[in-house]
Amino acid sequence: MNRLIASTAIGVIAAALASPASAELKPGDQIEYRQAGYSFMAWNMGKIKDNLQGDFNQEQVIKAANAIAAVANSGMGALYGPGTDKAAGGHKTRVKPELFKPENAEEVGRIAHEFLAAADNLAEVAAEGDKAAVQTAFGDVGKACKSCHEKFRLNDDD
Ligand code: HEC
Repeated sequence: MNRLIASTAIGVIAAALASPASAELKPGDQIEYRQAGYSFMAWNMGKIKDNLQGDFNQEQVIKAANAIAAVANSGMGALYGPGTDKAAGGHKTRVKPELFKPENAEEVGRIAHEFLAAADNLAEVAAEGDKAAVQTAFGDVGKACKSCHEKFRLNDDD
């Protein structure tokens, strides 16, 4: 009986260790999903930009900002698992190998954290509806996207 409980407990622990969220996704799928997440955020950034340049429709801006914040907060770090530093499963990637280096972990974390804070702030500011404040918060998110790309994404012509 005791042995059964012990072996069951070990089985549960082993299962938990073996199945973090990313381990269930093949590397090629992780690459595909993270690219989809970024593309989806870019689409929503474009919608906010259009609203800032033309008629400001607060409802549209709120929806787009919430979509960006939701993707930003979805735990995309789980899509940078082992084997996703190069093409996998027929999916090319533009991630730089630097993103995976332990000595850069702190900087990756800082950039990701700044991006999250900016995305959350944009969603909050959008809900308040002040166009000038949205402009500033939108600019901050754009800068956060760019600072990660400059460090950790290859250029198109690389
Ligand atoms: C923490 C770093 C980081 C942040 C923050 C970030 N990106 Fe990226 N982005 C990347 C990396 C790395 C890639 C390359 C992914 C790949 O090819 O596997 C990428 C790829 C992309 C792509 C190309 C997707 C594709 O289909 O190949 C777009 C578009 C993009 N990002 C837009 C954005 C926008 C817009 C934001 C901000 C709202 C943003 N990114 C924030 C790192 C980041």
